[in-house]
Amino acid sequence: MKQVYVAMSADLVHTGHLNIINEARKLGEVTVGVLTDKAIASYKRLPYLSYEQRKIIIENIKGVKEVIPQETLDYVPNLRMLKPDYVVHGDDWKTGVQKETRQKVIDVLKGWGGELVEPKYTEGISSTMLNQYLKEIGVTPQVRIKRLRRLLNAKPIVRILEAHSGLTALIVENTMINKDNKNYEFDGVWISSLTDSLAKGKPDTGSVDFTSRLNTINHILEATTKPILVDGDNGGEVEHFISTVRTLERLGVSAIIIEDKTGLKKNSMFGTDVKQEQDSIENFSYKISQGKKAQITDDFMIIARIESLILKKGMGDALARAKSYIESGVDAIMIHSKEKTPDEIFDFCSKYKEFDNRVPLIAVPNTYSIVKESELIEAGVNLVIYANQLLRSSYLSMKNVAETILLNERAHEVENLCLPIEEVLRLIPENK
Ligand code: SPV
Ligand code: MG
Repeated sequence: MKQVYVAMSADLVHTGHLNIINEARKLGEVTVGVLTDKAIASYKRLPYLSYEQRKIIIENIKGVKEVIPQETLDYVPNLRMLKPDYVVHGDDWKTGVQKETRQKVIDVLKGWGGELVEPKYTEGISSTMLNQYLKEIGVTPQVRIKRLRRLLNAKPIVRILEAHSGLTALIVENTMINKDNKNYEFDGVWISSLTDSLAKGKPDTGSVDFTSRLNTINHILEATTKPILVDGDNGGEVEHFISTVRTLERLGVSAIIIEDKTGLKKNSMFGTDVKQEQDSIENFSYKISQGKKAQITDDFMIIARIESLILKKGMGDALARAKSYIESGVDAIMIHSKEKTPDEIFDFCSKYKEFDNRVPLIAVPNTYSIVKESELIEAGVNLVIYANQLLRSSYLSMKNVAETILLNERAHEVENLCLPIEEVLRLIPENK
């Protein structure tokens, strides 16, 4: 019996996939390499279904002998292992992002006289199309909440961007670019206390109360399907924190980040220019442990934000806090800095790497925005938050437009700085 290999993500299985498997079984015994979450996340968005779920679906399709994981986008390791007589793939990959992957398949098959068979691509249906429908339908809290943990497991770095309204959240949801044959997009939304406050014309001092913050969270939940991380300031009193955790978990928010400070809240970027008190390690660790106990599922994440470097308490203090917070059950650590370079963050990271007991590490490169994601990955950072760029850029652009109207005593000169009205009207589908 000839051996046939087919690789697929198999997230949104449609007639196109069935057609390929059908063509493959005409040639011999079919092994399907189902791409792992890591393999898929290396070039496009994380699949809706886990690897295990996708494997079960494909195993149960007529004509499939076996399912094996394909750990990389590249077919070569599995092909070398199986040495199949045929590889079957739709002819759509002759051009576009998968061109190089295809060429490699042809080259490696030559090694044992294998052949690439390319049935005609099934028109009228595609995962991209189904993905668009699914986005329009939305997502349930149970599915959304889990996605942050899945992303942390699947990606070298999870990329989060700030939103402070339904509209800005749509930018986080939908912005995508293609570079070097890979799709790049943001993995989730940061609901910043700074930008949520500023958008309401308020300072970042906790003066926007939690009910009002929830209002913003709700708008963002409605506009998006991606996971959400909420900036919880210092979490408040333990009793209040417990109820905040329950509320956010119920809504399908994936994580709350709380900072180890007490007293009147000040934005960290003030550093030591204003009076900011750090909480004791004991109190803050206790707050974390009580929050963890309050959760109903294991999905929600409580993340501790260490302010020692901001408050010039030293690296030793930052590391001691990380240890204690991890012992208290925290799900990730955010290490904050307001230096112009990433040096002190890298220093923390290299010492953190020596911990036996580690949780994912988060960085917020506000002031050290010079740092590249590749350098953060190298240092061991698992998630990066771009915490305020949408608000800062929109402010500049709006101010420029306001001044230009004043200067010209009409709006004509700003037309090319503005989204055309027709596009404004089409920005949000009417059934939203
Ligand atoms: C926020 O975005 O509100 C934050 C992050 O807390 S920072 O402003 O960098 O402190
Ligand atoms: Mg904040």
